[in-house]
Amino acid sequence: MSEGERERFELEDSLKEEIRSKVLGEGFMKIVQTVRRGGSQFRISVRPVEIGGEKRYQAEMTDDGQVRVKNFDADGISEGLEDIIEQKGARDLHLMTAKGDLHVRVTRKGRVLVSRSAEMDRKVELKPHDRVKSVPLTAFNSAAYLRAAGLADGEGRVRASMRGKYDQVNEFLKVVAETVRGDAKSFTVVDCGCGKAYLTVALYLYLTEALQMPDVHVYGVDRRADVIESARKMAAALDISDKVEFVESDLAAFNVEKADMVVSLHACDTATDEALAKGVEWRARYILSAPCCQHELQKTLDDKGAFAGVMRQSILRERLCDILTDSFRAMIMRILGFRTQVMEFVSSEATARNIMLKCEFCVKPGQSGPVAEYLALRDYWHVTPWLETRLQPILSKHLSRFE
Ligand SMILES: C[S@@+](CC[C@H](N)C(=O)[O-])C[C@H]1O[C@@H](n2cnc3c(N)ncnc32)[C@H](O)[C@@H]1O
Repeated sequence: MSEGERERFELEDSLKEEIRSKVLGEGFMKIVQTVRRGGSQFRISVRPVEIGGEKRYQAEMTDDGQVRVKNFDADGISEGLEDIIEQKGARDLHLMTAKGDLHVRVTRKGRVLVSRSAEMDRKVELKPHDRVKSVPLTAFNSAAYLRAAGLADGEGRVRASMRGKYDQVNEFLKVVAETVRGDAKSFTVVDCGCGKAYLTVALYLYLTEALQMPDVHVYGVDRRADVIESARKMAAALDISDKVEFVESDLAAFNVEKADMVVSLHACDTATDEALAKGVEWRARYILSAPCCQHELQKTLDDKGAFAGVMRQSILRERLCDILTDSFRAMIMRILGFRTQVMEFVSSEATARNIMLKCEFCVKPGQSGPVAEYLALRDYWHVTPWLETRLQPILSKHLSRFE
C-alpha cells in the first residue's frame, strides 16, 4: 500500500485540514477535482485571480460538457471548498501551491491514495480576471437588452442557442462602428424587414450609449404582425418605445421624409432592392444591406453560350445569379453616388448569406466609369435588374447619356 492509502471514501481530518490551509493560505495556485459518476464527469477548478485590485477566486465548473464560471470572495471559496472536500465517490484532486503539489485519488472501491511532490519554490503570479472579450455589445451596458432580446439568461450569460445571433449582432455593430461618424445632431434610421428586432434595438442602443449620439430615432418595418408585436414588447421592456418605433407594413408602402441610415439584413429577395431604393429616395447617407435569397434574376437569365455548363447545374446557376444580382446592386449604388463596398460581415460558417453592401453617399452621381461598367455587364447578360426598374426615374438620366 502506498502512502496514505485507506479503505474508505472520506478523507482523513488531517488531510482535509491540509487542503483547507493550502487553498486559503499564501502560495495557493490551483485546485482541480474531477468526480466520475456512472458515465458522466464533474470537474471543478479554482484559482486565485485579481479583480479590481482585490484577490478573488475564480471557479470553473464543467458538468458533462457544460461550463460555468463564477467568482468568489474568501468566504465564498471557504464554503465551496467544503463541498470539494466532502464529495463522495471516485475522484481525483490535484492541489498546486508555490511549495509543491498534493495529489489525492479516491478509487472506485473507496481507497484514498495520497501523494506529495518534492518541495518546490514556485513563483505565484496573481493573474487578472479573464477580460470580458471586447465586442460592441460590451462597449455599453447591454445586460437589459441581452435579457429582453432573449440572448442571455437571467444571470446574464449568453444562451448557447443564441450564440450565433449574439455574434451576428456584434459583427453588424462593428460595421456600424467603422461606418458611422457619430457627429450628427439628430439621426434617423430605418431597419427594413426588421424581424424580431434584435439588430434594430441593438443598433439604437449602440448609437446612443456607445457612440453617445444625442438624438436618434429608429423605425423598424416589417410586414409580419407577429414579429412587430414581439419587437414592440422588447422596446417597451427597455423603455425606448418613443425612440424605437415598429411599423407593420410592406416596405413598398412605408415612407419617411428623410433617413440618415437605412439597414436591411436578410430581407427576402427583392425586399433588399426595395430597401436600397428607399435609402436612395430618403437621401440616406449610409445604407447597410445584407441580401438574402434572390430569385428575380434567375427567372430571366438566359442559358448563355459559354456559360451553358454553369447554368445547367442548379447550385452554380443560383450562385452565379446571387453574384450578378449583388454586382448589379453595387454598381447601381456607385452610379448614384454611393461609395460601395461588398464585404463579408459574418463568417461564412455562421451563414452562407454573409455578404453585405456597405454604401456611403459621398461621391458625385452619374460618373461615366461606373455607368459604363454597369451597362457593359447588364447588356452582356441581356437583363434588366429589378433595382434598375425600381429606380428608373432617378437612374435613367445617368444611363441614357451612355446608352
Ligand atoms: C430573415 S428575416 C430577417 C430579420 C432581421 N432583419 C434580422 O436579420 O434578424 C426577414 C424579414 O424581412 C421581412 N420582409 C421581407 N420582405 C418584406 C417586405 N417586402 N416588406 C416588409 N417586410 C419584409 C420578413 O417578414 C422577415 O421578418
